[in-house]
Amino acid sequence: MPATIRVHLDQPIGEVSRNIYGHFIEHLGACVYGGIWPQPGLKIAQVRGMRADVLELVKGLNPPNIRWPGGCFSEYYHWEDGVGPVADRPWRFDWMWKKPEPNVVGTHEFMDFCREVGAEPVVAVNVRTGSPEEAANWVGYCNAAAGDTQGKRRARNGHAEPFGVKFWDIGNESWDLGAEFSARRFIEFNDAMKAADPNIKTVAVGSSGWDENWNRTMLEIAGDKLDFIAPHHYDGWGERDPAAPPEQYYANMASAWRIAETARRTCELLDEMLPQRPQVGVSMDEWGIWVHHQQGLQHGYDLSDGLVAASVLNAFQRLCRRMKMANWAQLVNVLGVINTDETRAWETPIATVFGLYSNLCREVAVACEVESDRFTVGSVRPDIPDLPYLDASATRSPKGDHAALCVVNRHRDAEVACRLSITPAPAGECIAREMDADHWFAKNGPREQRVTVKEKTLGGWPEEYRFPAHSLTLFSC
Ligand code: AHR
Repeated sequence: MPATIRVHLDQPIGEVSRNIYGHFIEHLGACVYGGIWPQPGLKIAQVRGMRADVLELVKGLNPPNIRWPGGCFSEYYHWEDGVGPVADRPWRFDWMWKKPEPNVVGTHEFMDFCREVGAEPVVAVNVRTGSPEEAANWVGYCNAAAGDTQGKRRARNGHAEPFGVKFWDIGNESWDLGAEFSARRFIEFNDAMKAADPNIKTVAVGSSGWDENWNRTMLEIAGDKLDFIAPHHYDGWGERDPAAPPEQYYANMASAWRIAETARRTCELLDEMLPQRPQVGVSMDEWGIWVHHQQGLQHGYDLSDGLVAASVLNAFQRLCRRMKMANWAQLVNVLGVINTDETRAWETPIATVFGLYSNLCREVAVACEVESDRFTVGSVRPDIPDLPYLDASATRSPKGDHAALCVVNRHRDAEVACRLSITPAPAGECIAREMDADHWFAKNGPREQRVTVKEKTLGGWPEEYRFPAHSLTLFSC
């Protein structure tokens, strides 16, 4: 069957929040220490103690927001250990990841990083071993005027201007504590923190993958207080033998469907339970591909992983009415979209995808119909339905004079010929950027960039296009 994509610029779905292209850094492995802030003594170009090569790559991602300090690390972190002169800060033992924590990177350093790369900070407070008062003081420290008690402390530590942190995560993966307890704890923290600054937006712990009971309980108890609910979803399929049967490759492709299902069902639950609060959103503040458990959670992501990430971002755009924020876990080295060694930093195909979407996709999602043949994962992951080879999402500017269409061809071996229609067609030239490589498991490294982006100026929007096997094509005008 010939494939068809029909984009209807005159049928808006809703506004796309740029925060869906967000990232996450944690004091874990070589993400914060060693990834962004190099180990002491490493001779490498730096900007105020941060690796210049990493900063440059992060800026290329145009990150709307970055979440910190965890993750699970945040559940044992006491923020006051990380402010004031570095030499006076205590070393602590990190009970989560079982390592020393030198507290060299704290609130001021994280804010400096965010400012440098142009991202909004998202801060996760310690709900497990911290208190509402400690969290409220952190809000005050970040946001109060320099004359206020906490503002004075911040000013004494060198930053008179408030940091203006808007987004605050209350807790992380407290699934073992139960949904009811977590929801009540959320309310205590939320009330104390919003008393310190009523303008902040708070994020409540959501389910692990899709868990309706967890999300229902959280929304029943805290639904009139929270601004976001945050399910986490890690997925992926680890078989990467190029000689393995195609179902193994498609099992990884299907991870996008599983992650998107968690997002879709959480959005639907918000519609069902909080129709009177349409501004409440889903923040999937940890998502990604996690297939190895080796030390440091280092993953060398390949092209196939990049295509999974692109399909998930397509889904987030389509779900834009409730899908308001998301954070790939994580930014550097640990499950990282950027990897480093002692001399270089390089981007994985996932970083390339984030850069393309964050820089080129537009503000309003529009209807986009796709018809294409389907692949099967078969018995490798029996819960997964057959899915179309082509996956697409379209966005446009508010006036409709600019548009972007993202098309993933998940076919492992074949190009897909496709008829394209975009109505009303925007004037001007259209540029196609194709992310592709000679193999579906191609990776980049410190010295080679096997996954590349080819740019083609097409004149107007094409009526037909041949999407290369295992590729992402982003059309924009
Ligand atoms: O991203 C790594 C870890 O995965 C985070 O600390 C935790 O929240 C999740 O389980």
